[in-house]
Amino acid sequence: MSFNVYITRQIPEEGINILKKFCRTVEVNPYDRPLTYDELLRQVNGRDAIVAMLSDKIDARVMSEAADPCLKHTGTSLKIIANYAVGYDNIDIKTATEKGIVVTNTPGVLTDSTADMAWALLFAITRRIVEGDRLTRAGKFTGWAPMMLLGGDFIGKTLGVVGAGRIGTAMAMRSRGWCMKVLYTTQSNKNAVLEEMLGAKRVDLETLLKESDFISIHIPLSEKTKHLIGAKELSFMKKAAYLINTARGAIIDESALVNALKNKQIAGAGLDVYEEEPKLKPGLAELDNVVLVPHLGSATVETRTKMAVMTAENIIAVLNGQKPKNCVNPEVLA
Ligand code: GLV
Ligand code: GLV
Repeated sequence: MSFNVYITRQIPEEGINILKKFCRTVEVNPYDRPLTYDELLRQVNGRDAIVAMLSDKIDARVMSEAADPCLKHTGTSLKIIANYAVGYDNIDIKTATEKGIVVTNTPGVLTDSTADMAWALLFAITRRIVEGDRLTRAGKFTGWAPMMLLGGDFIGKTLGVVGAGRIGTAMAMRSRGWCMKVLYTTQSNKNAVLEEMLGAKRVDLETLLKESDFISIHIPLSEKTKHLIGAKELSFMKKAAYLINTARGAIIDESALVNALKNKQIAGAGLDVYEEEPKLKPGLAELDNVVLVPHLGSATVETRTKMAVMTAENIIAVLNGQKPKNCVNPEVLA
């Protein structure tokens, strides 16, 4: 009950209230902005748990501030980093594990909202929703025109899902409404649900890129997946194909994508994530054949509330010496 928790950004109250019931101190970043790195270093010190955002870089230095051996002696050092996200590429997991810090994430609860965002981007770019909105607001809609803002159809086309995990599967399942052919890649076993329900076919990345009309990325960012989609991979895509990314920006070489879009090498892209968030690569924002949203994949009231509750429950489990439901480095618990 003497626990001390820091939350690096305001999250839905439902999660904060759960923490307040179990912990002596629950402090929230009071600003409407992320903490600076120096602020983060100061704030982690002496906490039992921190709730981190995907925009907080939790590196070895932050963890040494938090898991100071002197503090450990008094039992007040950091025990858990609860990431308020499913992706955890912002955390140095190896160092956390070495220091005995449990890291948790929020899988499952954001699967549908993120799959929905991929489709929202796919529709928006293919049916030119944002261009149309800009034109209409600018007073340039002077009447229906037979050749105005023509986009593409979805029915019967081929959807390529890069990474058929929870989110990729949910994204692919939504294609039933448009009777799409589905191709997918996966690091693990074949996806029985997609194969049985959609007749989906597992292929290698090159085949997927070459044969799909819509490509949607649903893999975590790691050393192995950084720039998985570069100039060469973009050159495999059909000229009429669209690329959607709701995973992590750096999976795509964003400069190469700007070039491909500029040269009309592909039809368009829908992006929720960026290589150096929140910065955009030069030229990206000037292009008409891309729809850009500010990392909103999980941004629904329902999902963010569930993420807050899940995060709080993970923290309470660890502080009570129990196994949290969503541990990404279970070696620590062994
Ligand atoms: C969002 O990008 C997440 O990883 O939860
Ligand atoms: C379009 O609005 C149509 O009626 O065809």
